[in-house]
Amino acid sequence: MTERLAGKTIVLGITGSIAAYRGAEVARRLMDLGADVHATLTRAGAEFITPLTLRTLTGNPVTVDMFEDPSEWQVKHVSLAQRAAAVVVAPASADAIAKLALGLADEFIYALALAAKAPLVVAPAMNDKMFAHPATQEHLAVLRSRGACIVEPETGRLASGAVGQGRLADPAAIAAAVADAVAPGDLDGIRVLVTAGPTREPLDPVRFLSNRSSGRMGYALAAAAAERGAAVTVVSGPTAIPEPAGCEIARVETARDMHREVLQRFPECDVLIAAAAVADYTPAAPLDAKLKSGKKSLAVELAPTKDILAECGKRRKQSQFLVGFAAETEGLLAHAREKRAAKKLDLLVANDVSRPEIGFDSDRNAGWLLLADGREVELGEMAKSDFAQRILDMVVEGLQGRRKARRKR
Ligand code: CTP
Repeated sequence: MTERLAGKTIVLGITGSIAAYRGAEVARRLMDLGADVHATLTRAGAEFITPLTLRTLTGNPVTVDMFEDPSEWQVKHVSLAQRAAAVVVAPASADAIAKLALGLADEFIYALALAAKAPLVVAPAMNDKMFAHPATQEHLAVLRSRGACIVEPETGRLASGAVGQGRLADPAAIAAAVADAVAPGDLDGIRVLVTAGPTREPLDPVRFLSNRSSGRMGYALAAAAAERGAAVTVVSGPTAIPEPAGCEIARVETARDMHREVLQRFPECDVLIAAAAVADYTPAAPLDAKLKSGKKSLAVELAPTKDILAECGKRRKQSQFLVGFAAETEGLLAHAREKRAAKKLDLLVANDVSRPEIGFDSDRNAGWLLLADGREVELGEMAKSDFAQRILDMVVEGLQGRRKARRKR
């Protein structure tokens, strides 16, 4: 995790939505990025979550009703407004959005938003009908036209039981949007395509061949790239882990599906990170009906799949940056060097999957980064999230090097 908000004061306004309790999670995510969070609750917000929760979590006083002690809030809303690197309203109710758009100032957060020059980030959460209503949409359009960042709510089951758009966005995505608004990440504006997870190759309608990949490394890379400002798409095989925040996900099953989805998106990406454990072989003739038991023996013919990364290597533009993985059980560096050259990669990440403490189903990894300029950097054992950051440091360095070279020409 990079501390993109280190040393920054972020004001978080929690308003009267059933999602107010998730405001605590937003505070947590902002703090994960290093922010000093000052939470404030509207009176309606304080009906859903207590100031004590936020005070304990953030370590800062929490303002609720600005009419409690005018001498205090009058000074405070101006001084906090001046210090704030961003003002975040999450969750923002329909009422909050209207007040922000109209410039009303009947509670602390709205007065502060008027007094602050810092970027405003608004994460709506409400009933789908209220969100879709022209009044709400027009107020959001006004806020957008003034430069506010709106973190769109998700579609899903709402408090009313209905399914629709109105669920508060993922708190990690809200925190990433705040970080983007405050300081662009070093992958800002870069389009990153990540492949992750295993593939499943059907034998018949109920059985498949697969491998031990959990998708953790690919997802950690995707989440870290999004956190550093990239627009990330993940083409993911079947996984059982939470999806990375702030990324577009395209789900696939087979190597063939993954090939199609990646090749379609590849021309539009700046960076491809192929972390998927794609099956090298697939049953040549999968059965249409379930195979019955009772056979004395059974041979399954396998046919090779297409190498997605190698094909991208052939089609690549020089400006694109390609990262591949090599999972080896022996001759780690020798095999890895060959793969990097054969697939025309800018960076190859090699790891020894015979070590159970790192690799497939583990939260940790270790290995070597092999670069096109011949450098070979060993990374000791660390969490996959840190491992992902080190890989992205190399990607950023590579992209910067290219930009410099282009400028010289
Ligand atoms: N890869 C891919 N498509 C495939 C097979 C692999 O895109 N059909 C990618 C993987 O995502 C990884 C890299 O190629 O980034 C290396 O995969 P790996 O299976 O380790 O290497 P192979 O080239 O298949 O060599 P081998 O299995 O013989 O070691």
